[in-house]
Parts: sequence; structure tokens; C-alpha cells
Amino acid sequence: MSNTGLSTIAALVLAIAAVPAGADQITDIKTEAGEKFFHKECYRCHSVDADRDSYGPLLTGVVGRRAGAQDGYPYSEALAQAGFVWTPGALKAWMMDNDGFLPRTKMRHVGIADPTVLDFIVSYLGSISD
Ligand code: HEC
Repeated sequence: MSNTGLSTIAALVLAIAAVPAGADQITDIKTEAGEKFFHKECYRCHSVDADRDSYGPLLTGVVGRRAGAQDGYPYSEALAQAGFVWTPGALKAWMMDNDGFLPRTKMRHVGIADPTVLDFIVSYLGSISD
């Protein structure tokens, strides 16, 4: 991770520690951190704007959506036929080891091991799924 990323997280952690934050504030901070990690790890392949084409499927609305169900996207057979719903847990397992979670998809291997980062990104994906 870049130093900028680390210092951003350090600043966010300090913000969490300094304010007697309510649950909403903590969610906001997690979502903001998650957006940064999303931009670093996912954004080059995934759009969050229906007007912007991307190599991977649009991820707005992904939390709670059936896998392989974004209209018009040419999914691999593996994802098109997967049949499960993207819960926060499934998304974390996918980001930890997508090939292990569901083999033979078109997504290059992504391996995010840090549970905090996974939690942040899921929080961000949830915020664009309402
Ligand atoms: C190098 C490009 C690339 C990167 C980086 C990438 N993805 Fe993907 N992703 C894809 C492609 C391509 C697919 C479609 C796979 C298929 O159809 O087999 C996909 C599929 C997905 C799906 C399934 C969506 C659906 O509609 O079922 C999710 C969820 C997902 N990616 C999340 C992520 C997240 C979160 C990250 C960042 C941690 C990420 N991806 C990083 C290319 C990428």
C-alpha cells in the first residue's frame, strides 16, 4: 500500500478515536475509507456509474443482487450460472480469493487479506447499493 493510503487510514483511525462517534459516523468513515480502497483495487475494471463502460460489471446495487445478473453484461458461464446472492460475506470471500471462491470466472485474481480493508470496501459497496 502507498504511504498516502496508509496516512489516510491513520488519519481516519485518529478521527474515530478523537470523536465520541455514533454508529452513523463510524459507518460514514468506513464508507469513505472503503471508497478509497475501491478506487485503488477495483475501479480500473469496475464502474459505479451506468454511463461509464467498464471491463467488469457495474457494481452499483451489487449488495443483495444475484451473481451474474447485471443487465447486458457478458458474464463468464461460471458467474452467469452461479445462482447465489452477493451478501457482505460472499463479497468478502470473493475479494479474499475470487478464484478459490468461484473458479473459472473472467476476473483476474484479487487477494485482499486484511479484514479491515474488506470491511471498508463492503461498507462502500453497501452505500452504492441502496
Ligand atoms: C483486472 C480487472 C478487475 C479487477 C481489478 C477487479 N475486478 Fe471484479 N470483475 C472483473 C470482471 C471481468 C468480472 C466479470 C467476471 C465474469 O464474468 O466471469 C468481475 C466480476 C466481479 C463481481 C461479480 C459481479 C456480478 O454482477 O455478479 C464482483 C462482485 C466484483 N467483480 C467485485 C470486485 C471488487 C470488489 C474488486 C476490488 C476489490 C474487483 N472486483 C476487482 C474484473 C475485475
